[in-house]
Amino acid sequence: MLSKKHDLRKMSESEREHTVNTTTYGSRYFCESVPKFEMPEEGMPARAAYQIIHDELNLDGNPSLNLASFVTTWMESEADKLIQESIDKNYVDNDEYPQTEKIQDRCVNMLARLFNAPSDCKSIGTSAIGSSEAIMLGLLAHKWTWKKRRQAEGKPVDKPNIVMGADVHTVWEKFARYFDVELRLIPLKRDLYTITAEDVTENVDENTIAVGAVIGTTFTGQMDPIKEINDCLLEIKKNKGWDIPIHVDGASGGFIAPFIYPDLKWDFRLEQVKSINVSGHKYGLVYPGIGWLVFKDKTDLPEELIFNINYLGGSMPNYSLNFSKGSSTIIAQYYNFIRLGKRGYGEIIQNMLKNAKYLSKKLEESGRFEVINNDIMFPLVTARLKDVDFDVFQLSEKLREKGWIVPAYTLPEDAEDIAVVRMVIKESFGRDMIDMLFNDMVDTCSRLKELAIKKEDVEERENPSLLY
Ligand SMILES: Cc1ncc(COP(=O)(O)O)c(C=O)c1O
Repeated sequence: MLSKKHDLRKMSESEREHTVNTTTYGSRYFCESVPKFEMPEEGMPARAAYQIIHDELNLDGNPSLNLASFVTTWMESEADKLIQESIDKNYVDNDEYPQTEKIQDRCVNMLARLFNAPSDCKSIGTSAIGSSEAIMLGLLAHKWTWKKRRQAEGKPVDKPNIVMGADVHTVWEKFARYFDVELRLIPLKRDLYTITAEDVTENVDENTIAVGAVIGTTFTGQMDPIKEINDCLLEIKKNKGWDIPIHVDGASGGFIAPFIYPDLKWDFRLEQVKSINVSGHKYGLVYPGIGWLVFKDKTDLPEELIFNINYLGGSMPNYSLNFSKGSSTIIAQYYNFIRLGKRGYGEIIQNMLKNAKYLSKKLEESGRFEVINNDIMFPLVTARLKDVDFDVFQLSEKLREKGWIVPAYTLPEDAEDIAVVRMVIKESFGRDMIDMLFNDMVDTCSRLKELAIKKEDVEERENPSLLY
């Protein structure tokens, strides 16, 4: 409905003429600055508001050229349709939308089986906004379990700690700070960008609430030695009686390993692995934001942490950090599960992996890059520059001019002197796109090298003493 001010009958002749006889761009809203600080007293026509915001968003990067993010940028039109159809459903209204809740539970069931939960366990889990929320919830449950056990033994509970490598995502450090747990961060080593089981053994004690292990690290896409860590923790349990759980951060790897490395033991087949998170919006191939948390058994989630809500009608168990959230990504996840099946996921992931390996080989062969995750288990390529005349940050900036979004960063403690570019290869990034990216990377390196040489020449001319 038009506001009073824009009611055509009350408009001045010239304003009316503008609205009737011209396009949205001919209206006055396109020669005025848009409100940025205070909500305007009067609104504007929907088409003008749409066009102004739409045009501003053109300044954002193009999601399909974004190699920085792991997050899905494309889904099938049928999934888009389901998302649109469920965009108005608040997930937390379980009593009003019982089928949506059932669909969530089916996804949790499928994931527990995909992660090889033993058949005598009663696995439980929940959807979350992403892996970050899922990790916080998983670790909170372990903190609570540790605290209850210590209290039952009459032991102090004031010094909980959590052990993990510096290869973890920032959310792990966030958990430690927000939930008051001592962070025991194992530094990385040069040429090994994960932790070792020995590192873990040296750092755990009776106050360790959990060990964090990653399958598919954010920095290099590699994997902590989860099986070895499990074996060490079993030894410790046997010798010292400390029953320390592992939470596996499968944000990326949780949707890769089951489909292409089914024999790799990283999941609930390992005794100490009690909880796993995975991002539906990464290799689960759903738009943001959806993550999942699965506990091997319902005893791994203390009952006190589950809230029963009754004011939306019915009684609903809830384990989450926030309350309201959308339903559409949960539904889209279920769509992918039944639409693709294990085979469909496997085929897509194989393509991504082949393309990642292809890019890695080309970068190595160009002589300009050293790929640091040569083993490429997960579809991403992390490379450092061989050239010292310019750096990865300049390369990243120059590539942005061509539309490519390729992040550059330094690795965590104690490998922080290594600066890399990282390319996450997604399903919608085909072979030709890889070739185009590669060509632009190599061309950009040549241009940066020329510029560096020119700059050196100028410096030498301006400072003749250097000539002698
Ligand atoms: C290994 C790992 N863990 C956790 C996260 C956080 O996940 P989300 O963005 O789903 O909250 C990421 C994100 O990139 C990640 O790579």
